[in-house]
Amino acid sequence: MRKPFVAGNWKMHGSKASILTLVTGLNAKSSEISGVDIAICPPTIYIDYTSHCLSADNIFIGGQNIAEEPDQGAFTGESSVEMLKDLGCQYVVLGHSERRTIYGESDSQIAQKVKVAMKAGVTPILCIGETLEERQSGVMESVIAAQLKAVLDVVGIAAFESVVIAYEPIWAIGTGVTASPAQAQEVHAFIRSELAVLDSTVAEKVIIQYGGSVKPNNAVELFSQPDIDGGLIGGASLDANDFMAICKAAGV
Ligand code: PGA
Repeated sequence: MRKPFVAGNWKMHGSKASILTLVTGLNAKSSEISGVDIAICPPTIYIDYTSHCLSADNIFIGGQNIAEEPDQGAFTGESSVEMLKDLGCQYVVLGHSERRTIYGESDSQIAQKVKVAMKAGVTPILCIGETLEERQSGVMESVIAAQLKAVLDVVGIAAFESVVIAYEPIWAIGTGVTASPAQAQEVHAFIRSELAVLDSTVAEKVIIQYGGSVKPNNAVELFSQPDIDGGLIGGASLDANDFMAICKAAGV
C-alpha cells in the first residue's frame, strides 16, 4: 500500500509577508490531515524563512532545484544539495518542465542532479511529461519512456525505491486544463509498467504524483485513480485553504 504524497511547488512566488500568511494557515490546518505525506517547496532564498515559520510537524520542506555539482565551489548563482539539506530540505523537485524548457536542462543534466540528490539522502521528485504536440502526434509514451530511461541509465532501477515521480503533462501546467482522471491514470499505469519491466517490486512501491492544474474540486477524482499517489501542486499550493483541501483529498 503506497502512502500518498502531496507537494506544493511555489515556483518563483512569495515574499516574507505572504509566506508568513501562507504558512500560518498551513500550521493551523495541518492537524486535520492524516494518511498523506506533505511537503512545501519554496524558492531557495526563502527555504530557511519558511522553515522558521513552519510549526506543523507533518509538513516537510523541499527545494525546487540544485546544482549538478555535488560539492561547493566556484559556481556563481548555484545552490548545492548539501546547502539545501543544511536548511532542512528532505525533497527536491528535479526536471520540472520549466527547468527543461526555459533553462534548457537536458535529460542527462537532470539524471546527474537526481544522482547527486540521492547520494546526499535528499529525495528527488522527478518530473516527466509530454507537450500537447507530442500527445497529439502519438509519441507521448516514447517521450516519457525516454525521460525515465535517461535517469534509470544513471541511477539504476533499485534507486527508484526512493525516487518520487511526478507526471506533469506540460499542457496542463498552470493552464487550468487538467488531464482527465482517465488520461492521467493511463499514463501513470504506463510509467509503472515501464519500471515493472525492470523490477516489479520497485514499480509497485514507487510514488507517482500527478501535477497540472490540480485544484480542490478535481483532486478527489484524480487521487482515487489506482496509480495516482498524490500530486505536485503549483498555483493552488499558494493558498493555505486550497492546498490543505488537496492534501485532505489525498489522505484518509
Ligand atoms: P499548476 O503547476 O498546479 O499551477 O498547474 C503544477 C506544477 O508545475 O508543478
